[in-house]
Amino acid sequence: MSQTWTVALEIPADSDLEDAGETVEIDVGEEQYVLSAARAAGVWLPADCQQGWCTTCAAELLAGEIDQSTARRTYEEDGDYVLLCRAKPRSDLRLRVDQMQALLERRAEHELPPGRSKVGDD
Ligand code: FES
Repeated sequence: MSQTWTVALEIPADSDLEDAGETVEIDVGEEQYVLSAARAAGVWLPADCQQGWCTTCAAELLAGEIDQSTARRTYEEDGDYVLLCRAKPRSDLRLRVDQMQALLERRAEHELPPGRSKVGDD
């Protein structure tokens, strides 16, 4: 029987998303991606490529473990930033969502793709 984890999604107060300033809890199965599980639960998180390369769905992992081995690109230098479109839970999780700008700035600092080309682009 497959496992289901509890995932807390912190939505920053300055986010443009519905529920800004709130924390929403959802259940995510071990073979589900967090992004699609959130959307199925009515939490419409930002996303574009859904293949783990564009960074639109970036979040900060505050607690827990994920498997993002199917992402097209991730880097050690990304620290605790994860791509929710390709993130499967491996424990209960706490995530701060809507962190694309923060991840882009971090990648630009480390001269990783997409460099500075998208920083500040809203
Ligand atoms: S939607 Fe593009 S990396 Fe997740």
